[in-house]
Amino acid sequence: MAKLIIVSNRLPVKLQEKEGELIFKTSEGGLATGLGSIYKEGDNIWIGWPGQVVEEPEKQKKVTEDLKKENMLPVFLTETEIKEYYEGFSNETLWPTFHYFSQYAVYEQQLWETYVQANQKFCDAVAEQAGPDDTIWVHDYQLLLLPSMLREKLPDCTIGFFQHIPFPSYEVFRLLPWRKELLEGMLGSDLVGFHTYDDMRHFLSSVNRIVGHGSMHGWINLSSRSLLVDSFPMGIDYEKYAGIAKTEEVGRRANIYRNNLHAEKVMIAVDRLDYSKGIPQRLDAFEKFLAKYPEFQGKVTLVMLVVPSRDEVEKYKELKEEIDEKVGRINGKFSDINWNPIQYFYRSYPLETLSALYRMADVALVTPMRDGMNLVCKEYVASRHDQSGVLILSEMAGASKELSDAILINPNDINQMVEALHEALTMPEEIQKVHMSSMQETIKRYNIHHWVSMFMDRLSYVKIKQLSMATS
Ligand code: ADP
Ligand code: G6P
Repeated sequence: MAKLIIVSNRLPVKLQEKEGELIFKTSEGGLATGLGSIYKEGDNIWIGWPGQVVEEPEKQKKVTEDLKKENMLPVFLTETEIKEYYEGFSNETLWPTFHYFSQYAVYEQQLWETYVQANQKFCDAVAEQAGPDDTIWVHDYQLLLLPSMLREKLPDCTIGFFQHIPFPSYEVFRLLPWRKELLEGMLGSDLVGFHTYDDMRHFLSSVNRIVGHGSMHGWINLSSRSLLVDSFPMGIDYEKYAGIAKTEEVGRRANIYRNNLHAEKVMIAVDRLDYSKGIPQRLDAFEKFLAKYPEFQGKVTLVMLVVPSRDEVEKYKELKEEIDEKVGRINGKFSDINWNPIQYFYRSYPLETLSALYRMADVALVTPMRDGMNLVCKEYVASRHDQSGVLILSEMAGASKELSDAILINPNDINQMVEALHEALTMPEEIQKVHMSSMQETIKRYNIHHWVSMFMDRLSYVKIKQLSMATS
C-alpha cells in the first residue's frame, strides 16, 4: 500500500538523558506540534533527527527500534553536522535571512558544504524507505536541497515541500551566496507550499529573477516537468486543544494558578527563545504600559513561558541574557511583597499545564517581529472554553491574515503596543466574546486535518495535471 513519508530535520520527539537512560520527550516548535497529531495513520512514517548526538552503534540500534514502534525513523547527525548544518547554515544563515534579520546572517562556505552533505544524508535515508507509489513530504528550511536530490534518485516519485517560515522578498533573498542552488533544490518538488500568499509571491519572484523561470497562476514550467506553488495556512488540532481546556482537571489547575498570582488580570506569552519572537520589544511595551497606566500596577501579571531553543547559537545566548536582564529590571522596579508584574519561566511545559495557562489568561500577547504562521495564538484561541479573552497579535505573523478579530499591532511600534495592552485589559466581556467566537470558528474550520488534506489533494491534482500535460 502506498504510504506518506514525512521528512523534517527534527522529529516530533526528542531524546533526553535521564539518570543514564535515554527517554523521549515531545518536541516544541510549530512543525512538530502541528504535524504531531496526524502522522501516525496507516503505514505513514516520519524521518528526522532525534535531537541528540547518538554515536554508539548499540544505542543507535535501540533508538531506531524504539522509534520504529511509533512510525518514526531516525537520521543520526554527527557533532560536526549539528554545528555546521543545523546550528550553522540552517540557523545562522537561513533562519536570520528568511526572518529579515540578514544583519545576523553568516556566510561561510564550510557551513554550506555541510548543509549539502546533511541534505544528502536525509536523501539516502528517505530513498531507502520510498516505494514507487509513495508520497514524500519534505518540511522546512533545513532541507531545501532535498527535493531535487530525491528527484535525481527517484525521478518519478511524488514530492511535496512545505516551508514553515517566511520566504523573504527577492531583495533580501538575493543576499545569500547560494541563492540559485537553494531555489533549484526546492524546484525538485511537484508542489511547493507556504503559509501565506506573500511568501509564495516572494518565492516566485526570486525564482523568476534568479533562476529565470516565470510562472503562470503559480505553475512553473521546467523543461522536464511542471510544478505548482501555492499557499496553505497551517492550522492546529482544534479539537485537541479545545477538548483538553474544557476538562475539570485543567479548570482546577487554572484556578489554582490564578489564585496564586494575586492579580486581577493575567496575560500570557509563550514562545521559543528566538529573536524573531519580539520578546524584548514586548517587555519594553509592558514596562512602558505600567509607567503610563499606574492604576494597573499591582493588578496585572504577565506570565511569560520561554522554551530554550538553539542555545549553542551566539545570537540566542545574547538574547537570553537580554531577556533575563529586562525581566529582572522590570520586576525590581515595580514588584511589591504580594505581586510581581512578570512571572518568567525558562523551560518547556506539558500540554495540560500549557492548556491551564491559556485557560487562565485574560489576554495573550503574541508579538513576533516576523513569524511564518505562529501556532501559539491559535492554541490560545482554541483553549478559550467560554469565549472570553483577548488576543494581541503581530501583523508580522502569518496568522494575522486569518485572525483579523485580534488586536493587531506592529511590534516595532511600542506606543501602539502600550495602547493595545490598555484596550485588551479594559475590553468589555461581551465584545471579547464577539471577537473570540469569530476567531474560534475560523480556527475550528481551518484545522490541521483541513490543512493536510488541502495540501495532499493539491499534490494529487498536480500529478494528474503533469500526466495530461505530458500526453497533450
Ligand atoms: P515556532 O514554530 O517558531 O516555535 P509556533 O508558535 O508556530 O512557533 O509553535 C510553537 C509551538 O511550541 C507551539 O505548539 C507551542 O505550544 C509550543 N511551545 C512553545 N513554548 C512552549 C513551552 N514553554 N512549553 C511547551 N510548549 C511550548
Ligand atoms: C520552527 C521551525 C521548525 C523547527 C522549530 C523548532 O518551528 O519552522 O523547523 O523545528 O522552529 O526549532 P528547532 O531548531 O529546535 O528544531
